[in-house]
Amino acid sequence: MPGLLPAAPVALGPEAWWLPGFALGRAPALLDAIAGVLAQAPLRQMQTPGGRRIGVAMSNCGALGWTSSREGYRYTACDPLSGKPWPPLPALLRALAADAAAAAGLPDPAPDACLINRYLPGVGMGLHQDRDERDLRAAIVSVSLGLPAVFLWGGLRRRDPVQAVPLAHGDVVVWGGVDRLRFHGVRRLARAAQARWPCRWNLTLRRAG
Ligand code: SIN
Ligand code: FE2
Repeated sequence: MPGLLPAAPVALGPEAWWLPGFALGRAPALLDAIAGVLAQAPLRQMQTPGGRRIGVAMSNCGALGWTSSREGYRYTACDPLSGKPWPPLPALLRALAADAAAAAGLPDPAPDACLINRYLPGVGMGLHQDRDERDLRAAIVSVSLGLPAVFLWGGLRRRDPVQAVPLAHGDVVVWGGVDRLRFHGVRRLARAAQARWPCRWNLTLRRAG
């Protein structure tokens, strides 16, 4: 049935792939899993080391969780809000990371960390590299749910040209190996009303430790 099958994978680099619709069939279960995590480790707006409030609201699950504060960027075993370990990584997320990496021809990153990002309309994320992890070649699996957003895909240098990738509900982006340190970000979400979704969710699955 044309139109119902996800589009073919799109190469974003030698070891980077956009997998349109890859997580679509698992989206309801993923949204349930997010709700379960947030009931234990609520969303919060973290501060940058420079003291600015990050627009994206965040939480984590897995053995390690990414945090930002005046003390810097770091992974912690416990949620600083509760002092308790982050909620465990749901098996569904571990399986999705393995399957998406396989679809991209990359080794299973065996993630121990999942950052949950919530974008409201008008919120974006500046260009950055993910470099707080121990292994800077292990694949990152990034899942988009809810409102669409434009993913900004740059090069290995901040000044390199940036490609605009229109991510929809259920899309996955995977990058590892030689592409692992590519700069990336998210354009501010459109403010126009959208009946179907109140926000965009992004799950970033990584091996941190
Ligand atoms: C991130 O780089 O942490 C988030 C990327 C995204 O929201 O798609
Ligand atoms: Fe990132």
